Amino acid sequence: MIILGIETSCDETSASVVEDGNKVLSLVTNSSFRLHAQTGGIIPENAARKQLEYIIPTINQALTTVFGDTSSQKLLSKIDGIAVTVGHGLLGPLLVGVETAKTLSLLANKPLYTINHAQGHIYGAFLGKSQTLTFPLVALVVSGGHSDFYLLNSHADISWIAGTRDDAAGECFDKCARVLGLPYPGGPEISKRAGEFISQNPNTPLTHLPRPLSHQQTEDLSFSGLKTAVLRGKENFETNRFCAEIQEAIVEALLEKSLAVDRRIQPRQFVVCGGVASNKRLKEKFEKTFSDRLVISDPIYATDNAAMIASCAFYTKHQASPLEVQADANAVLGN
Ligand code: KG4
Ligand code: ZN
Repeated sequence: MIILGIETSCDETSASVVEDGNKVLSLVTNSSFRLHAQTGGIIPENAARKQLEYIIPTINQALTTVFGDTSSQKLLSKIDGIAVTVGHGLLGPLLVGVETAKTLSLLANKPLYTINHAQGHIYGAFLGKSQTLTFPLVALVVSGGHSDFYLLNSHADISWIAGTRDDAAGECFDKCARVLGLPYPGGPEISKRAGEFISQNPNTPLTHLPRPLSHQQTEDLSFSGLKTAVLRGKENFETNRFCAEIQEAIVEALLEKSLAVDRRIQPRQFVVCGGVASNKRLKEKFEKTFSDRLVISDPIYATDNAAMIASCAFYTKHQASPLEVQADANAVLGN
């Protein structure tokens, strides 16, 4: 079964053709992050305008890469369905993908599958790997908009376990970078500088910043206090060293609560996904802890991409009528 996936929930316009849920035949992603780097963060209206500019060429390229340079009608005849992210995300950007997918579904007379963005991230963790989803599994979704634990007992039985009380982990990386005058998005920049510091100073303890909610009963996370501590402490350290401190505090907070959730639920798999899962330090620490029960997204499938959306649609088959589908900026996953 061949599914065309479409993802436009934030600043990436992505389209992908995926066969049987795990064979990625094409993945094309155009990002407007350079535009947002100029404003130090995303202005939703600007992101939506870029989605409009990119959406048709991106879908066209994803299809022609696989099926050759032919008419749109022929291209669409080769696929078995269309999957699109309906929420959560920024409304303007979401609307571009959702309305395009509805139109294509109606014109080509192909089923339309609606996907929750966070659930898409979970399925993205399995792309490029031989592992398959093994229930029950716990997933930690860590991105610019999420720091949440979910329990999946099946493709359809999903419940929310715990999550951040304020900022998401990716948001914390981005805000700390802004405080230090580093470019957007902050995660990759902090991670690069932290990596440089750690490789030159492997034995320096990185313990100067607080681990929020550490040693407390709760499985919740919190990252807003860390940003305040960074604001106060930034004069005391050289930038790369401070980046290593920030990264360590975030990764350790995520690991401590992951261990608590894992101990209580004892799932068969522990999945880590979302943009922050491409952080190398995080990967090292989680691999050490969870060994072969861990499934962590490869970097190309960790940040927003449409292959994860097409993959999720193959397994969940969450079909909807194109005449009724609506974008939902505040969609939540699980009950
Ligand atoms: O999943 P994603 O592409 O978009 C959302 O759904 O939010 O995640 C983007 C987030 C950004 O906050 C970015 O700074 C963070 O992921 N990120 C990273 C790294 N790469 C991306 N954070 C830490 N280390 C990285 N290497
Ligand atoms: Zn995302």
